[in-house]
Amino acid sequence: MKDGKFLTLGIETSCDETAIAVLADGRTVLSNVISSQIDIFKNYGGVVPEIASRHHLENINGVLDESLAEAGVTLDDIDLIGVTDGPGLIGALLMGVSTAKALAFAKDIPLVGVHHLMSHISANYIEDTELEPPFMALITSGGHTEIVRVDDYCHCQVLGGTRDDAVGEAYDKVARVLGLGYPGGPKIDKIAKEGDPEAIHFKRVYLEKDSFDFSFSGLKTSVLNYINHEKQAGREINRADVAASFQEAVMDVVAEKAIQAVSQSGMKKLVMAGGVAANSRLRDKLGALCEKEGIALYRPRPALCTDNGAMVACAAYYKYKSGQRGSLEMDASPSMPL
Ligand code: KG4
Ligand code: ZN
Repeated sequence: MKDGKFLTLGIETSCDETAIAVLADGRTVLSNVISSQIDIFKNYGGVVPEIASRHHLENINGVLDESLAEAGVTLDDIDLIGVTDGPGLIGALLMGVSTAKALAFAKDIPLVGVHHLMSHISANYIEDTELEPPFMALITSGGHTEIVRVDDYCHCQVLGGTRDDAVGEAYDKVARVLGLGYPGGPKIDKIAKEGDPEAIHFKRVYLEKDSFDFSFSGLKTSVLNYINHEKQAGREINRADVAASFQEAVMDVVAEKAIQAVSQSGMKKLVMAGGVAANSRLRDKLGALCEKEGIALYRPRPALCTDNGAMVACAAYYKYKSGQRGSLEMDASPSMPL
């Protein structure tokens, strides 16, 4: 406690970001420090799990010190530690979980493990301090694409998800073949602004009627085939047009299914979550559709969409408030259902 405020420390290391934040009373960010390994993985074209774990180990103490200093607090002021315990890269997750357990043990602070996707959803409580469940959430990230009905702060129900690639994964793969580098999502987002989304027609895959599942592997293959075909024919590829056309094919399906889920539920609130929620086209598309349908749309600022410690602290705060407690026996899990 400091100045009468309940302080939560949030630790996130599920992939390639070492991130630690301090939150006051569950929703106010006092610090949100992120040490990204993007510069390292640019050279590899993607995350190398073993290297990611090593860098978490090297960075985590520095990130912790910086986060506490920026918040103007010490570990003695912290009331709760929240940490991502899954899903994610196991070696990377273990760095955060071990750190959290060590701090909890040394300072006798309560500890709560949180699901990575619950954290992504919780970023919205920070962005919009009035938001309360129930609502529908569209989670799109590097590892997940899910439509989730959020009933309260700690419970949700998955209505559908991807059967193969996650949206972010498809973006990263297409970006790689276009030679745009890693991470591909922001690069495609940027270059697509200069392209024509109708230049190439890529098939939209909706799967069965009324299904909230997704499939993006066919689209990814269509893009690869298109590029190879053009190359073989000796034609130059317009990367902006390919990026814009690919993006439109993905986001048409994602946006339509999300709106359909909200409409069917009668909830009238849609929350965006995960790294791909930072995508400008998806934000605009959903913005327009929600306005037309009278649905309130929640879009965290891009820095809260991608992996960060603040969202972990927020999810931990609500889990703790609901009476749930972790223990020093806590383990990390690479795959964990919501
Ligand atoms: O949530 P996140 O930081 O990590 C995971 O939990 O996976 O999401 C990372 C993903 C990457 O695939 C990245 O390319 C994608 O989010 N991404 C974007 C944008 N910013 C990040 N995809 C499309 N447009 C963006 N602006
Ligand atoms: Zn994430």
